[in-house]
Amino acid sequence: MKELTWDRTLSVEVPEIDEDHRRLVDLYNILSHAVAEGESAEYIAAVTDELIACTLWHFRHEERLMLKHGYPGLAEHKAEHAELMADAQALQQRLVAAGETVASTDVEFLERWLVEHIYGADMKMGLYLSAAM
Ligand SMILES: [Fe+2]
Repeated sequence: MKELTWDRTLSVEVPEIDEDHRRLVDLYNILSHAVAEGESAEYIAAVTDELIACTLWHFRHEERLMLKHGYPGLAEHKAEHAELMADAQALQQRLVAAGETVASTDVEFLERWLVEHIYGADMKMGLYLSAAM
């Protein structure tokens, strides 16, 4: 089972964004545990819904901060958010359509989905925002 630990290497140096990311990491771990422990499909679907809803809210939060502080990479970052959200929703819809639950390969996909965005686009944004805020 994949377990993510939030540590300083994941910090984007903007406390309110780090707080959101911690919450997303927690939810990811709850999902990963649920899949590994064979929880019911209904429970796993509820955790997946929560993770997606929380991520959507968090993306809006980041986008508002970027807008407020005039981040020059806003359009690019927003486009990446839209792509990530589309990927997660496609996964969710595929599972619902197939009547399947989240598999460990889906959990791995979501781990990359979360961590690569934080290490990539979010670090760049954090560098700018931590100086601007
Ligand atoms: Fe982001």
